[in-house]
Amino acid sequence: MTTHMTPSEQTSLLEQAEEIAERAHAPYSHFRVGAVVVLRDGSIHVGCNVENAAYGASVCAEVNAITTAVASGATQIDTIAVVCLDGAPCTPCGNCRQVMREFGVQRILMRDGSGEPIELSLEELLPMSFGPEALGI
Ligand code: THU
Repeated sequence: MTTHMTPSEQTSLLEQAEEIAERAHAPYSHFRVGAVVVLRDGSIHVGCNVENAAYGASVCAEVNAITTAVASGATQIDTIAVVCLDGAPCTPCGNCRQVMREFGVQRILMRDGSGEPIELSLEELLPMSFGPEALGI
C-alpha cells in the first residue's frame, strides 16, 4: 500500500511540473503540459509536451518524462506529477496512462479545477488495465 504524499511534497512537485510546462513546444495547441517523475530512490526526471508540424509526431509531457527516466536506467517509477498551464485542468491522456502502467507508476499527482492537488493511483486512472504480466513479464 503506497502512502500519500504530504501536502508540501505535493505542492513542491506540482510547482516543479509547472516550471517544466513553461518549456513546452506547443505552437499548435497552445496547451502546455509539464511532468515530473519521481523514482523509488527519490531522483527526478522531467518532460514537457513537444509538438510537431506533422501532428502525429507530437509527444506528451508524461511520455517524455517517463522515457527520459528509463534512459537513465529506471525500470520502476513511483510518482508522476502533471500540470497544465493557464489553469487548465489536466488529466493524463489514455496513451500516457498506458505508458505509466508499463513502469509501475504508483501515484499520479495533478491539480483540480481550483488548483488543489489531487493524488490518484494508477488503478483509479486505468482500471482493469493490460500490462507486462499479461505477456509473462
Ligand atoms: N498532452 C500532454 O502532454 N499530456 C496529456 O496527457 C494530454 C495532452 C499534450 C499533447 C498536445 O501537445 C497537447 O497537450 C494538446 O493535446
